Amino acid sequence: MKLPQTVNILLLGSGGREHAFAWKIAQSPRLEKLYIAPGNAGTRACGINADLDPSNFPALKQFVLNNYINLVVVGPEQPLVDGVKDYFLNDPEIRHIPVIGPSQEAAQLEGSKEYAKAFMMRHGIPTAAYFTVTKENVEEGCAFLASDKVRAPYVLKADGLAAGKGVLIIDDLAEAQAELRAMIDGKFGTASKKVVIEEFLSGIEVSVFVATDGVSYKILPEAKDYKRVGEGDTGLNTGGMGAVSPVPFATPEFMEKVRTRIVEPTVRGIREEGLDYTGFIFIGLMNCGGEPKVVEYNVRMGDPETEVVLPRITSDMIDLFEGIAHRTLDEKVLEVTPQTAATVVCVSGGYPGAYEKGKPISGLPTVSAAIGGGAAVTENSIVFHAGTALKEGRVVTAGGRVLAVTSLGDSIPAATAKSYATIEGIGFEGLYCRRDIGRDLL
Ligand code: AMP
Ligand code: GLY
Repeated sequence: MKLPQTVNILLLGSGGREHAFAWKIAQSPRLEKLYIAPGNAGTRACGINADLDPSNFPALKQFVLNNYINLVVVGPEQPLVDGVKDYFLNDPEIRHIPVIGPSQEAAQLEGSKEYAKAFMMRHGIPTAAYFTVTKENVEEGCAFLASDKVRAPYVLKADGLAAGKGVLIIDDLAEAQAELRAMIDGKFGTASKKVVIEEFLSGIEVSVFVATDGVSYKILPEAKDYKRVGEGDTGLNTGGMGAVSPVPFATPEFMEKVRTRIVEPTVRGIREEGLDYTGFIFIGLMNCGGEPKVVEYNVRMGDPETEVVLPRITSDMIDLFEGIAHRTLDEKVLEVTPQTAATVVCVSGGYPGAYEKGKPISGLPTVSAAIGGGAAVTENSIVFHAGTALKEGRVVTAGGRVLAVTSLGDSIPAATAKSYATIEGIGFEGLYCRRDIGRDLL
């Protein structure tokens, strides 16, 4: 099976990751029309923004039928965890339209920490030791924290999706026990009705991305994400303040361990358990003294990692989607430039706490038709929009993470220098970015 030679695509999402997908898809000679639902002020340079809510499945159905959509690409996890893939498969009118992403059951690899841990145990995939706590065994959980099976710092994770906030790392035992009780009592709503206590892994993190058709796989460029808001990895956790790819410590030797010990058994496990998985797997890994261990699975691409991963892929995106959707991934060739990509995220003042929206953004590169279907490209950089909107003809801020400025270069300093030079020309009230992206890797 193949997709038609030219295709109409519906891309779900509205962040920097989706602008990067839209930018890459728009470069394909196989694209007929691209719709982004709902998109942002940047994605409209690559296709048509559709005023649709990705969680309103009946509305998605109407849209794909009305617009002769051949393929649906899902950016964020929520529609996947809510079962968008199953919704399509269960409806005879739209079941022939492939959805890039896993089924609701397979999406539990991200949607439930316990499901993911149990999956890793079944398939012998290296990860931190864990213990699951619910209302029924809170006392046992507190005793586990006090036992010699774990040591400080204590890692407590809400089982369900908690918008990236559901992980607590605590040094003090009494405080960890109190937080465990608070989580079970609903600190993160239903997401923390169940809590996974984990062994603390010390090391440096790397994000590994895998495309799979459920049988075979391709490892995409890896990336390192900068999660803390402050320079030197200080301050609160954010969605991500920047990223670089490739990652120098992810040597061929390390990546071979990742492939044989983690990627292979993950894809084999998906196949053996009969999980419907045609999409991307994002494996958050800790490099523990040269040995990779899984911190988490996500069932989608990362943000801002996508903004450095896709610019390094030089082969056709629609061909890759075709391989994923029609189980012909092993016939496809993935080409990657050896150049370094770096992205620096410009955020609204106050983020990840309270921040204001609606600030006009100046100095954005004009949309260039030169690259593919058009993107905000300067001589040096690609300016991906994350939280932006169009208001009375002006681009304004509309989120915490506003722009992700990506550049390619022969080294990390060369790539980041280009992004910082581009950011010099961009302004909005309260703009903040970390000035040290990539510096820890030199
Ligand atoms: P997660 O939502 O599972 O990705 O956790 C969020 C962040 O918490 C990760 O990116 C790590 O930086 C950290 N983290 C999670 N689990 C562990 C662990 N077992 N040991 C050390 N750090 C962890
Ligand atoms: N950058 C981390 C994530 O997308 O979850």
